[in-house]
Amino acid sequence: MNVDLGRRTDDGGLGAALPDCLSAAIAAPSIHNTQPWRFRVAEHHIDVLADLTRRLDVVDKASRELYLSLGAAVLNLRVAIAAHGRAPIMRLLPDAGKTELVARIAPGAAQHRSETTRLLARAIPQRRTNRRPFFAIGVPPEVIAELQAAAAIEGARLVPVDATGRDAVLGIVRTAEMLRRRDPAYRQELANWTIEVPPRRDGIPPAAYGPWSALESIPLRDFGLVQPARHRTTVSFEPEPTLAILYSAGDGPEQWLRAGQALERLWLTATVRGLATTLMTQPLEIPQLRSLFHDRDRGQAAQAILRFGYGPPAPPSPRRPLESFVMDHAPAARTGWPSEAIRPVGTPRIGTFGSGPVPSGPTWRHSGSGPMG
Ligand SMILES: Cc1cc2nc3c(=O)[nH]c(=O)nc-3n(C[C@H](O)[C@H](O)[C@H](O)COP(=O)(O)O)c2cc1C
Repeated sequence: MNVDLGRRTDDGGLGAALPDCLSAAIAAPSIHNTQPWRFRVAEHHIDVLADLTRRLDVVDKASRELYLSLGAAVLNLRVAIAAHGRAPIMRLLPDAGKTELVARIAPGAAQHRSETTRLLARAIPQRRTNRRPFFAIGVPPEVIAELQAAAAIEGARLVPVDATGRDAVLGIVRTAEMLRRRDPAYRQELANWTIEVPPRRDGIPPAAYGPWSALESIPLRDFGLVQPARHRTTVSFEPEPTLAILYSAGDGPEQWLRAGQALERLWLTATVRGLATTLMTQPLEIPQLRSLFHDRDRGQAAQAILRFGYGPPAPPSPRRPLESFVMDHAPAARTGWPSEAIRPVGTPRIGTFGSGPVPSGPTWRHSGSGPMG
């Protein structure tokens, strides 16, 4: 899909750009590629909802990583709307008490497409999780600074790990990975999301597992753990990986959604700059280990551990078809959306929420302070 509609439709909708925007949203990263989102398209806005049936009960009891994933989808949707020449207007958790409704996003006034918007939008389908060894080339400080700025735009803090802290961080990730591998419930959950059952289009495909790190110098999550038949080569990874930790102020659904947007904005920025990225979130899924990363001075919680570098290209992971994410929406005659473009399938599994026009008022704000709006 490559529709370019900078113009408002008569009723303020996105018109034919809608499928493009939703395709951008579902290209977001998600824990174990669970794709835990749904969308309800109404006359003047898109609701983003959590699909709680896709939560990982073993590693993500609190739904923190589910909300991070949803935040990433929200960021992509905002970028895509901006790339179509409309100011995205967003409200997180618009219905107090209903945390399944994570965001309501409306296309606002026509606006100029900035260069940043254009680059970020182009990076959405190119972004990948790369679990391969990276070249022994350092990431320049100015590129790290750009990633930090990207996180800051979304209200999060990206803290590079220095040479002294690197071994400590890798040691904690290794401890977490070892603990998990011994847990039958973890292995079962991992099996559920790594077993290939064509035409299944979620979970981690074998091509994306990556090779073994010799001596486990970099303890990436072992997606081949329960797939011993999958032969994986053992290779040496870069000796001095570039690591960083993403922090947020506060630690609840709203902060997770914000951290997810920060994660995706910095990941897209990394993609624009030709950087490969991997997440290593294992210790953040075990409360005792996660607490080791808390920044007590600032009262900030660690949300993600990232590895950056320059590496060979990584294969894509699949996505379910767009139609499977779209819930029933307002009758076609009333909507600004082309109903033939998106046909919702299946019965909504999440309770229904109000789908009237976007209310105006002080609680609505433009969705970001960066050039993308
Ligand atoms: C909150 C979150 C946590 C993740 N944790 C890990 C991880 O610990 N190890 C890993 O290899 N990938 C991790 N990922 C990456 C996902 O596995 C990846 O996004 C998904 O498989 C889709 O692949 P893609 O990013 O290439 O599109 C995480 C992603 C998210 C959003």
